[in-house]
Amino acid sequence: MRLTIMQQTARRYTLDRMGHHDIDEVARIERGSFSSPWPMAAYRRELRRTEQNTYLVLRTDPNAHHSEDERGGVLSHLPFGGILRRDADVDAHRIAGFAGMWQLYDEAHVTTIAVDPRLRGRGFGEALFVALLAEATKRGTTWLSLEVRASNRVAQRLYEKYELSTYSRRKGYYTNDGEDALVMWSRSLRDPAYVARLNALRDQLQRKIGEAVEVPRLHDVGWQQRLTHPIGAG
Ligand SMILES: CC(C)(COP(=O)(O)OP(=O)(O)OC[C@H]1O[C@@H](n2cnc3c(N)ncnc32)[C@H](O)[C@@H]1OP(=O)(O)O)[C@@H](O)C(=O)NCCC(=O)NCCS
Repeated sequence: MRLTIMQQTARRYTLDRMGHHDIDEVARIERGSFSSPWPMAAYRRELRRTEQNTYLVLRTDPNAHHSEDERGGVLSHLPFGGILRRDADVDAHRIAGFAGMWQLYDEAHVTTIAVDPRLRGRGFGEALFVALLAEATKRGTTWLSLEVRASNRVAQRLYEKYELSTYSRRKGYYTNDGEDALVMWSRSLRDPAYVARLNALRDQLQRKIGEAVEVPRLHDVGWQQRLTHPIGAG
């Protein structure tokens, strides 16, 4: 069913670093996704700490072909279509979703992930999550962790698919309504068998969403480490 949706649309998206110019649109998706959205100032602060943080957006690819409907109808018939097409894209959800994480020593901690409510169920949330896992392995972290609302089964299903497990429950963690958080952790990202399993899920996702998004692969951190620390090197 989801595959059919993707086959009907020529829209393409690219995974990109979030920039300050994205914050307005990110805030719009936040408001449609969370009961206690982050203020825009929080994103501005996060984007200043790029050594420890990774914030990604899934944005429309300006170089991709878009169908007439997606380009914004009547505007696209006017001269200077290229420029106008870009304006139309801004109206037609230029950013499909976003995700972020902090790196704390050997732990990558997911701070946020959301997809525009109009574009859910197409594999975009999963693509963003895989991109975070890929970044975590690129940075050489061992674990990926996160908190999720106890009632948020949709997000939990996504994390369980990637074999994250619940290790603890934080009572009343969400201050706006007192809901509990589940604390979930990945298996070791230095375990080559786990990374291979995650890449197999990534490949399955890529086949499902086709050309809509190019999903990054995870790095085999264990393998890189074996090269830099050969057996017997002390
Ligand atoms: C969680 C969220 C990011 C998922 O994004 P999405 O693009 O809709 O999800 P995808 O289409 O990529 O689905 C990936 C997986 O999520 C789970 N999932 C998605 N929609 C689901 C649904 N309606 N019911 C149950 N599981 C669902 C499934 O495991 C799915 O894998 P599958 O297709 O193999 O079954 C999105 O629902 C969202 O933005 N929610 C609001 C914000 C939020 O709760 N963020 C999480 C904070 S911890």
